[in-house]
Amino acid sequence: MMISPICVFIFSLVLSSSYADVQDFCVADYTAPQGPAGYSCKDPAKVTADDFVYSGLRISGNTSNIHKFGFVPAVVTQFPGINGLGVSVARTDLGVGGVIPFHTHRGATEILIVAEGSSVLGAFVDSNNKVYMKSMSKGDCMVFPRGLLHFAVNQGDTPALMYASLSSENPGLDALETQLFKNDLATDLIHKTTLLDKSQIRKLKRLLGGTN
Ligand SMILES: *[C@@H]1O[C@H](CO)[C@@H](O)[C@H](O)[C@H]1NC(C)=O
Repeated sequence: MMISPICVFIFSLVLSSSYADVQDFCVADYTAPQGPAGYSCKDPAKVTADDFVYSGLRISGNTSNIHKFGFVPAVVTQFPGINGLGVSVARTDLGVGGVIPFHTHRGATEILIVAEGSSVLGAFVDSNNKVYMKSMSKGDCMVFPRGLLHFAVNQGDTPALMYASLSSENPGLDALETQLFKNDLATDLIHKTTLLDKSQIRKLKRLLGGTN
């Protein structure tokens, strides 16, 4: 059967017009106003490979704090290429004895990968209050299912370096202790709702910068 040149021409027109409608990504446009749904898309003609590469994780997080915990996020607010893709990554440094305190990530699932360190304890608590806990060494990774409270402790005698991969482009880090003690929520109400001693609550407020 002969295929006429006209048919080939029309077919290729249909193909090219349908491909032109495909939007593969929505690189965040930081110059446009941000709506409730997130960032607008940068003009695809202005998108370059640089939008999909982030070098901020080369530098370690500052571990000079009470938890010896350094945290460097690569989320949509600084990494435009991940906008709309539902993924992000973060770098976590822990000094010897350092701790990532109890926290959640707005419903995102996390995989924590140990890049350096001999003994990093990873743990999460499920909705039945059961604790899942395991010591990891370099090369190991642990998944923290979405929404669950989790923490990690560097039990080794060298600093630990970890990368966290998250199933959200802006997962946040909602830490239990700062939500409880790093604000002006009244000590009396914290006491009533947690049954913690008021003196302990005041001590933690002082330590973390809370009032009342
Ligand atoms: C690390 O944090 C401490 C405490 O906030 C601060 O004094 C120090 O300058 C920081 N170091 C760097 C390299 O930013």
